[in-house]
Amino acid sequence: MQANAEYIWFDGKFVPFSDAKVHVLTHSLQYGSGFFEGIRAYKTDKGAAIFRLDDHVDRFFKSAKIYGINPGYTQKQIHDAIVDTVRKNKLQECYIRPFGFYRTTKLGVTPVDAAISIIVAAIPFGNYFANKNNGIKCRVSSWQRIHTTILPPEAKGSGNYLNSVIASLEAKKEGADEAILLSINGDVAEGPGENIFFVQKGRLVTPSKDSDILLGITRDSIMKIAEAKGLEVEERKIHREEMYTSDEAFFSGTAAEITPIIEIDSKKIGDGKIGPITKMLMEAYDEVVLGKNEEFSDWLTFVG
Ligand SMILES: Cc1ncc(COP(=O)(O)O)c(C=O)c1O
Repeated sequence: MQANAEYIWFDGKFVPFSDAKVHVLTHSLQYGSGFFEGIRAYKTDKGAAIFRLDDHVDRFFKSAKIYGINPGYTQKQIHDAIVDTVRKNKLQECYIRPFGFYRTTKLGVTPVDAAISIIVAAIPFGNYFANKNNGIKCRVSSWQRIHTTILPPEAKGSGNYLNSVIASLEAKKEGADEAILLSINGDVAEGPGENIFFVQKGRLVTPSKDSDILLGITRDSIMKIAEAKGLEVEERKIHREEMYTSDEAFFSGTAAEITPIIEIDSKKIGDGKIGPITKMLMEAYDEVVLGKNEEFSDWLTFVG
């Protein structure tokens, strides 16, 4: 489900969707030198609310910093641009994409003193995985996750996502819904656009930062919600074979939200059905994003 929004925020101005264009020689299109965020807004009883907006804006600026880019705006300006974009498009539930990129059309890899453009798009968006509510099937990729010595996994840089594209297309071609990437050291890292969790004897286990993952904001939310529910959460290195013997598994991400994984490499996880802890966390996460849990209400920014 993807309809277009009417307006895109483009360098400080709203332009109609069809006019938000760049030249084919744009540096970021040629070399993947953009940086971006993925954020969701949800329809709550008090109108549209953006989930963990300041944390996403913060990561947007961190990604830019890691790539040596000055976005040319303050965090407050980008925060306001995002809220304004959702409001201007009269959207309640949407996926928001702030994106920064070198707009130069000069060919050559090194963008010395090149100008940056920033856009914010907000697009109506449903489930990322069609099978979300039944659970999905995954395959370990033959491609490994980018290592911190090669490209920064903690930054949402456009070029990083070629690693995700090659792995997810391979998984689809092999009949799976999604890939799971191992780190260069062979530990479980993450999905192409999702973090991963396992349930083992009632505890949540998820790959630690040294497994070359993006430090997901949903991952952080789930760890905090789980702890509030009295669950133990462990961040550590995870061996491939541990995935197969876990009781439950799920992906987390802004787009994926909590998506149960029922099979990995043709092996059923648990009994091959959505497990009770995954189900409980899916319900708890929905309550949080929909503003029905007071304890986490400061994660919502109301559009008004
Ligand atoms: C590679 C990767 N890992 C994990 C995630 C999940 O991060 P978040 O929960 O902040 O959306 C994403 C999505 O942004 C991603 O692209």
